[in-house]
Order: sequence, then C-alpha cells, then structure tokens
Amino acid sequence: MADSQRHPFLHGLSKHRGAPPTVVVIFGASGDLTARKLIPAVYNLGRDNLLPADFQLVGFGRKPIPDEEFRALAEAAIRRFSRRNLDPAVWGRIAAGTTYVAGGYDEKAAFDRLAGHLADLEKKSGREVQVLFYISTPPTVFAPILLNLGASGLARKHLDQPHHAKVIIEKPFGRDLDSARELNATIASVFQERQVYRIDHYLGKETVQDLLVQRFANAIFEPLWNRNFIDSVQVTVAEDIGVGARGGYYEQSGALRDMIQNHTMQLVALTAMEPPVSLDAEAIRDEKVKLLRAIQPLVLGPGGDAARAQYTAGMIGGKGVKGYREEADIAAGSATETYAAMRLSINNWRWQGVPFYLRSGKRMARRVSEIAVNFKCPPGTLFAADGHFDLAGNTLSFQIQPDEGLSLILNTKIPGLETRTQPVKMNFRYATTFGSDTPEAYERLVLDAMIGDGTLFIRGDEAETSWKLCTPVLESWAAAGGGSMDNYHAGSWGPAAGDALLAKHGHVWRQP
Ligand code: BG6
Repeated sequence: MADSQRHPFLHGLSKHRGAPPTVVVIFGASGDLTARKLIPAVYNLGRDNLLPADFQLVGFGRKPIPDEEFRALAEAAIRRFSRRNLDPAVWGRIAAGTTYVAGGYDEKAAFDRLAGHLADLEKKSGREVQVLFYISTPPTVFAPILLNLGASGLARKHLDQPHHAKVIIEKPFGRDLDSARELNATIASVFQERQVYRIDHYLGKETVQDLLVQRFANAIFEPLWNRNFIDSVQVTVAEDIGVGARGGYYEQSGALRDMIQNHTMQLVALTAMEPPVSLDAEAIRDEKVKLLRAIQPLVLGPGGDAARAQYTAGMIGGKGVKGYREEADIAAGSATETYAAMRLSINNWRWQGVPFYLRSGKRMARRVSEIAVNFKCPPGTLFAADGHFDLAGNTLSFQIQPDEGLSLILNTKIPGLETRTQPVKMNFRYATTFGSDTPEAYERLVLDAMIGDGTLFIRGDEAETSWKLCTPVLESWAAAGGGSMDNYHAGSWGPAAGDALLAKHGHVWRQP
C-alpha cells in the first residue's frame, strides 16, 4: 500500500499542488540548522515524491568545500538527523543535483559567481527554474546577503513569472522593534513582500495547523469561544534542555526574544483570532495581525504583566545539571532570562476580560508545549457537597508536543450511591489514530515556500506588531539589569514571579 493511502497526513500532503522546477540555495550551508533540519527535510520530501523532478540543491558558505565533500556532509546529516532511514536510491537522485558555491556574504563577486552557476543549472535543465534562497545564517549577515541578492540581479529573477525568485528568512527576525523595521526595510529594498517567507517553525507543526481545523471545522467550539464561556487561556512552551553549546547566541537573546515574541505569540494569535474569510494566506495573516494589534501594552515593573528568571542548578531526569550562569559562554552576572512569562489582555469584543497567560523556559520540569483553554465553572448549586462547591471548570488543551493530541476535562459522577463528582480527561492522541510518522515542520515549510503558499509564514507587519508588544518589556528588563533577576531551580516549573502573574486573578498554572 502506498504511504499516502495508509497515512492520513501524507494523504493531505499528496493533495498539495506540485512545486515547479526549483533550485534551493542554502546560505549557511555548513551550519547546524542545515544539517539538523534543512537537509533532512529535503530528503524526506524526496522520499514522499514531493520534490519536483529536476530539483537542485546548492549550498553556499564561506568555507571552500568541494561538491563531493558537501554531498558527503549532507548524507551524514540525513543518517544522523532524518526521521526516516537513508534510502540510497532517493538520496542518490537528490545528490546528483547537489552542488556547492563558496564565497563571502558581503562579497558581490561571490553572488555573481552564484548567479552564473544558477544560470548554468537552468540551461542544463532546459526549462525555466525558480530559485528559493534560504537564509540560514547568523542574523549579522542577513542584510549583506539580501543586498547582494539585489545587486547581482538574483532577487528579481523571473519576477514577471508566477514562479519567481523567493527568499526564506530564518529567525531571529530582529531583536526589537527598530531592528525588525530595519530588516523589513532592507528586505523591501530588494524583494517584493510576495517573494518573502519569514519562518517560524512552530507554524509548520501538525498540531499548530490542526488548531485552525479544530476551531473552525467543529461547530461545537465556535459558539463557546469567547469571554462568555472562557475564563482564561494558558500557553506553555517549556523545554527541559538548557542552552547547551548555544550559550553565545542565547546570551544575546533570552527566552522572550527566542520563544515568546515568535512561537508563543503565534500560538496566541491562532487561538484567539477571528475566523478568516478563507484559508488564503493573506486572509489568515490579516486576522492574526488584527488580533496582535488588540493586545494591550503590558504593565511594566514590579507587580506588572511580565516576569523573568534564570535557572539555577537542579535535577533533570534524575541527573544534576548546572545553573545558567555556570554554562559555557555565559557571563557570571548575566542579565539574560531563561524563563519569561506574561499576562496579556486582549481588548476586543470576543476576549475583553479574559487573561491570556504565556510562559516559556529552558530547564523546566519537562518538555511540553500546550495551549489550555479554561472554561468558566458551571453554577455549582446542584452538586455542592456540604455547602462546598468543587466542580472543576472544563479545560480543552491542545498538546502541541510531545504526545501530540487534544484533551478535554469533564466533570463526571463517581460510580456509587452518593452523587459525587470527579474531573476526568478525554484524550485524543495523533499517534494512536494516525501513527507517529508525521512530517517535520521544516518539510511542510520548505514545500510550501517552493509552491508559493505563504500561509504558514510571518508577514512583515505581523513581526513588527509582535515586537511592538515585546520591546517595552525588554527595555524595562534591560534598565533593571541582572540584579533584579528571579531564579528557579532547573527541573522545576519556574519562579514564584511567574505564579504571581496568575495569582492576581485567582488562577494557577496548570501542571501539563
Ligand atoms: C528555537 C529556539 O526557535 O526553538 C530554541 O531558538 C528552541 O532555543 C527551539 O530550543 C524549540 O523548538 P522545538 O521545535 O524543539 O519546540
């Protein structure tokens, strides 16, 4: 039986419009993301027959690497990081069209060489070939790459055709509102917005896409999805890993920039946005921006709407782990937060008065990303025992990862002669229903960009709106310095300051 017949998700993908002949050019070809995610994504698309027949892959980087060696590195990356084993026939086909160009990102001549190489590939293929540039480098060279793509004419390639040049830009998309605006301006000086795909890999996750399906393909949720029935919403993106070898990057970033401004805000936008008029990319992105604009500026300072902290030494999975300030490349008095939490107020008709709580941290008790929608408690009079009312409010939780699924907490009668109630959990797990071999986020995103579908990418105004909310928080933390930083033990659920954000409204964090 073909994979697509057995597997409903692959079945969905097989309905995808095919990608036109494409060359994917990866800037930062010898980087970590390329090995861990991009090359395995291309390989798995090849395995599912989703690459165009004359697909070509070009690595671009500062380091001179012969084609043969680049192919060997790519093969090793697939063996190590792909979700499926290397099939030599599939890889052989991709490898035959894999080449490498060396050059500096600020070296115009290198981009002219790249243009020559791409023209040769197109000539050989005998057809018009679209080019998808994937900028997967440190952000310091985003601008030189973009400007050189402009100067070499590559950005305008086939601009009059439907399958023109496109560019995927990895995060971080700026480090505050000003730098995001500056980056958008640089992009706009070279590319038209329809050519630009700003990545947030959370949008490529199956469960994140399913959020829209759950909300709008089931008639039971929409009538309840508002302040009349919903008490509060909690979004948790917790990781048990520390900063590992990424200390240098993380010191300049922190939890708010690394996770909240992008991934967590996207989860909020999809949970709370109005129904779009269609599933068209612009219709969905318009609704997300509208929602982000309705979020009120946060109250800053002690007792305000945001909390931050750093992990100290603790235990994870029974093993002792270091505190953040003891990790490699971290300053002894570091002012970088490894945990950030926020209380958001959305000032629109649907959500007025419903707090949205967000938290994200490294070295927390376990890896879990979920959105928990807490409904209001029913009037409890019927089931009050000894005058004590203890019905739980219903909670609908979307488990983004791991154990992807959906669960609903309901009050149920405990069997017996007395009428006593207990909350029980109804579970749906993707792995049980669909099998566990779902495509990775990057597969979906690379394919969508090749096809020209921007639905799962961030529009420029969306990035700026999110930064507009987050930048004042970052500035207030920078002004307060590292001295006022709270702490939490590695392996815990975060600091008391995070709990205090909820206590103000009589809420507590759910234990996911
Ligand atoms: C990245 C962050 O964007 O997302 C990392 O830079 C983080 O710090 C990662 O670990 C988490 O992604 P995922 O898909 O493992 O939840």
